[in-house]
Amino acid sequence: MATFQTLPGFREFYPEDLARRNHIFRLWRQSAQVFGFAEYDAPILEPLELYKAKSGEEIEAQLFSFVDKGGREVALRPEMTPTICRLVGARANALKRPIKWFSIAEFYRYERMQKGRGRSFNQFNADIFGEPGPEAEIELIALLIQCLCSFGLTEQDFYIRLSDRNLWFYYLEALGLDEARIHGVLGVVDRHEKYGDEAFKAYTEKFGALDAALQGKILAFLQIKSLAGLERTLATIGGDKLGPRLADWRKLLGGLEAMGLARYVEVDLGVVRGLAYYTGFVFEAFDRKGALRALAGGGRYDDLVQKLGGPALPAVGFAIGDMTFALLLEQRGLLPAIGSAPDIYCVIGGERERMAAFADIHLLRTAGYRVEYPLKDSAFGKQFKAAAESQAKLALIYGTDELAKGVVKIRDLTDRTEHEVPSAQLVTVVRDFFST
Ligand code: HAM
Repeated sequence: MATFQTLPGFREFYPEDLARRNHIFRLWRQSAQVFGFAEYDAPILEPLELYKAKSGEEIEAQLFSFVDKGGREVALRPEMTPTICRLVGARANALKRPIKWFSIAEFYRYERMQKGRGRSFNQFNADIFGEPGPEAEIELIALLIQCLCSFGLTEQDFYIRLSDRNLWFYYLEALGLDEARIHGVLGVVDRHEKYGDEAFKAYTEKFGALDAALQGKILAFLQIKSLAGLERTLATIGGDKLGPRLADWRKLLGGLEAMGLARYVEVDLGVVRGLAYYTGFVFEAFDRKGALRALAGGGRYDDLVQKLGGPALPAVGFAIGDMTFALLLEQRGLLPAIGSAPDIYCVIGGERERMAAFADIHLLRTAGYRVEYPLKDSAFGKQFKAAAESQAKLALIYGTDELAKGVVKIRDLTDRTEHEVPSAQLVTVVRDFFST
């Protein structure tokens, strides 16, 4: 018989899968709260216009979009950044600065399927609005590290590649390129790691071949791996923007160093990020082994709030995706087995005993204990087997004798000891058992 399948790239969460997802979301949420970020949410379906020309060609080509019954062009959200810009922009004057917000939500991109990439996935987004200086980047990169480390990952497992679109701009400007060509080169840099010199093809088609010396300089710049290396290369080009920008770099790296986090961060000009709206520092998190696609990505986007109709408002943020992240946790054995064992399992003799048990079950559940019982009458032996399999700590036994005496028999399922307790004292005895 034919059964319906999920659409390609969409996931179903059976209870054990959802328990893992909840575990991940819970620790992300905890980290954000410790850092003083406030949680928000927004619609899954948005006007298509919100993403056109703002998120960049790649995401635009991947949109799940359609015309709704009212003739509106709409899209399932592929990311949160344009949406949060609208939310913050609309209330910018009323919100206390700096605005530190986070969300955990589902996104949709019509991507080619591969390991760690789906067509629906979840992201943890964290963003700061209203802070133009690198203080915001310090706070966000620290939060990103905390979000990963709270699961037991260390600097041996992941690292953050830090780069700067401003420096690329200043450098390429100094090499004589105009704005359109600079964007073309940034596209090359974005694709170079994956495609090597093939990445120059699109540039050449649009602007003609790059001069060999220029190409050499670009390739050398994208290989820079330290602040000292940056300073050395940039010392030759001068200009009044560079000094203050390098001071920002020192502030950012110095701040992270003071937090004890420098070991997680590497200068790497090979990262420029594919999204169109980034304006300054950009960063991405990867697993150290390089076996997985990006765990997280983010950066500064100082113009986007205004482009979407709000006031001028500096902004920076990042998102962690749940798919590569869960793969990494799994590979490192850091996803705990999440149990669903009850505290107490009731073994019930018959219909009259069931009524007595129901009264206690209700009281114990109200007191916060997880209690299970067989929904249908069955032999004692079968029920004891079910109690053992459930991995409950205690069994409560409701037999004819117990009912006649007004007691409940308690069996410790770990050491198999038993004793009788007057019904009226049951909750107190159970509470004592679980508090020792
Ligand atoms: P992004 O780099 O497109 O950035 O996505 C961030 C992370 O989401 C990626 O590193 C990856 O883990 C995950 N991700 C993206 N696409 C997929 C997919 N198709 N399947 C599975 N996981 C995926 C952004 O989305 C920016 N809006 C982040 C940001 C927030 N920038 C500023 N604030």
